[in-house]
Amino acid sequence: MEEFVKQSDLVFIWAPPKGDSFIIKVVPGGRQDTRLGQILHDDLIGKPFGSWVYTNLGKPFCLLRPNIQEFSRRVRRQTQILYPKDIGFILVSLNIFPGALVVECGTGSGSLTSVLAHFVGDTGKVVSYEKREEFSQLARRNCEKWGVVHRVDFKIRDIADGFDERGADAVFLDLPNPWDHLDRAKEALAPGNRLGILVPTVNQVEKVLDGLVESCFSDIQVSEILLRYYKTNSRRIRPEDTMIGHTGYLVFASNVIGSPASHDDGGNDLN
Ligand SMILES: C[S@@+](CC[C@H](N)C(=O)[O-])C[C@H]1O[C@@H](n2cnc3c(N)ncnc32)[C@H](O)[C@@H]1O
Repeated sequence: MEEFVKQSDLVFIWAPPKGDSFIIKVVPGGRQDTRLGQILHDDLIGKPFGSWVYTNLGKPFCLLRPNIQEFSRRVRRQTQILYPKDIGFILVSLNIFPGALVVECGTGSGSLTSVLAHFVGDTGKVVSYEKREEFSQLARRNCEKWGVVHRVDFKIRDIADGFDERGADAVFLDLPNPWDHLDRAKEALAPGNRLGILVPTVNQVEKVLDGLVESCFSDIQVSEILLRYYKTNSRRIRPEDTMIGHTGYLVFASNVIGSPASHDDGGNDLN
């Protein structure tokens, strides 16, 4: 259905040939400066999504709906953030669905929080713990910008003091020492459901794996997501020269009740 841009809409503008792009909140009298000239917000109001708009230098931008992938990688940040390549796999691995209760720590800049809140919908809830108030406030502003702040309960607390929630559909930990908080994550997570963890180094993965076994998690997976973009010139299709080489390792594990009767020591598998 054709829809027209209104005041306060979030729009995504994209310009050929190099893909200069911006996510803009449209305000009367506003202006977006770009390498290709200025876009006046007043020129966007009333235009249909999908149409072309022009800078004061006559350079074209297409006027698109913003998408959560573009948004999450551009959030204002004061911390390391989770990137869409990892977030996409987290969403499917943790089985995030409309109506889900998701608990995470730390909130950081709210890149993951905003995407989780997008996917849990108005019937779901994200409870996001962060020990530093300034980061929590920033994440709140980022979620406000995407229009999902009402789906998030921001809690300012050191997670050493535990989570309030029980029976969560999913829990995610993105903090430097997740192995110290696995029992707390287990308390919050419904049995049978999954915990996700991101850590940037292999040394941390080792500690996480030992901790998961100790805290009786099962179905443990470790993965790394590599994403390589390609040039889109149809006569010269090849990978882009640069890529994000490393973000972190993703660990997923399921919350089980106790240990199996005949315990198999999976941690000593030399393969
Ligand atoms: C890498 S950032 C999280 C980034 C976030 N996932 C995002 O996508 O924007 C890690 C955050 O964990 C917070 N943190 C570290 N230890 C914590 C603790 N014990 N309790 C609560 N928050 C903690 C830090 O203050 C920091 O903001």
